[in-house]
Amino acid sequence: MDYDIKDIDMAGKGRLRVEWASQSMPVLGGIRERFERDRPLEGVRISACLHITAETANLARALKGGGAEVVLCASNPLSTQDDVAAYLVAEEEIPVFAIKGENSQTYYEHIQRALNHGPTVTMDDGADLVSSLHFIALGKWKELSPAVRKWAEGLTSTAREEMVRRVVGGTEETTTGVIRLRSMEAGGVLQFPIIAVNDADSKHFFDNRYGTGQSTMDGIIRATNRLIAGSVFVVCGYGWCGKGLAMRARGMGAHVVVTEVDPLKALEAIMDGYRVMPISEAAGVGDIFCTVSGDVKVIGKDHFRKMKEGAIVANSGHFNVELDLEGLEEITVSKGQVREHVEEHVLKGGRRIYVLGQGRLINLASAEGHPSSVMDMSFANQALVAEYLALRGHTLEKRVYRVPVEIDRAIAKMKLEAMGVRIDQLTEEQQRYLASWEQGT
Ligand code: NAI
Repeated sequence: MDYDIKDIDMAGKGRLRVEWASQSMPVLGGIRERFERDRPLEGVRISACLHITAETANLARALKGGGAEVVLCASNPLSTQDDVAAYLVAEEEIPVFAIKGENSQTYYEHIQRALNHGPTVTMDDGADLVSSLHFIALGKWKELSPAVRKWAEGLTSTAREEMVRRVVGGTEETTTGVIRLRSMEAGGVLQFPIIAVNDADSKHFFDNRYGTGQSTMDGIIRATNRLIAGSVFVVCGYGWCGKGLAMRARGMGAHVVVTEVDPLKALEAIMDGYRVMPISEAAGVGDIFCTVSGDVKVIGKDHFRKMKEGAIVANSGHFNVELDLEGLEEITVSKGQVREHVEEHVLKGGRRIYVLGQGRLINLASAEGHPSSVMDMSFANQALVAEYLALRGHTLEKRVYRVPVEIDRAIAKMKLEAMGVRIDQLTEEQQRYLASWEQGT
């Protein structure tokens, strides 16, 4: 079996971690049992570019249980749990290409090896796998990383075309990936249908908000061990992730400041009780900053210049481009690693700024990512959407689709059942009333 991981001897520790996570993933567990019985993914080849965590391992087991041939590569160079990767290879016989801390070249080489699997279904978290596949198919050599380019140039043009033609459909896990894929659709280059798992209500209402909220605080605290209470905590971007993060920071006693570009989101933040101001102003008042916007250079060179002595800066958005780290380098006179995930930048005049986890999503870089219970719903979506693609993918167009509403609602229902929570049912009279227009005051 072809794989590339840190150390296969870590498998035992990985198994414990995966089993612990599975206890909080009853919905995915139920799907796995059904998959093992019905084998709906027989003949499906899945290349999944996801964070290699204990929760992803449970997804991979469910997919394999359903009959799919699965390979995994990392969707971020810093998010891999090496013991989990070892467990998947050693005990589940699932090929994994991922090593925590891999450089950009190895990261893309791993994507290339996952593509070499010849997927009929792709899974992405940020669209790096699908975009690489499209760059190959469209002959956009310049955009490809050298590792993938070298491999792709060695393939015949028929083989390259076949790689894309073979794909029945793909799934996308995160906001940034969906934005990239919608841009591919708008530009007329998308070569197969994608289902935006991120956009399912049973995904982003919970994963982006409560998952990112809790795990980002966890990441910042593990990296720094600083007291949150009494600090000024700046959240850049008040979308689903930002709302969760602001809520949790306030819950720990921080004075939360929100920065936004969308007037509606800014208003929402104000009415939720936060201070809102431009980043140029927030830069001078914050003790801790965290970007969750999916945008580029949200904290720029001039903002770093304005920061207070000892300011802590992190990102929990998908890519580290949210922080202008190159700009920060330009004004840095010396730097050094002062804790495992903390890099100190000394600016002219001696002021110090601390960047966490190289600006990569801090909840995965220095903590363990989202709690399993919330990933239960996200990955139940992934599993059921993979099944949907296997059954219906050939009927879809080359577009980005929402998760079918029946799947979305079924997952919420299963989660409630697993939590032992019962809710009311509409009576016939209520159904009639809600569907009618005749009845007024
Ligand atoms: P969203 O679209 O709901 O929210 C983003 C918000 O940022 C929007 O309200 C937008 O107006 C705002 N924004 C954009 N540019 C800005 C700027 N220059 N300054 C201030 N605000 C700005 O997106 P969501 O779902 O909250 O995701 C945000 C990012 O987090 C994405 O990159 C997503 O892929 C990533 N993500 C990370 C997770 C993690 O585990 N760390 C989990 C889920 C999503």
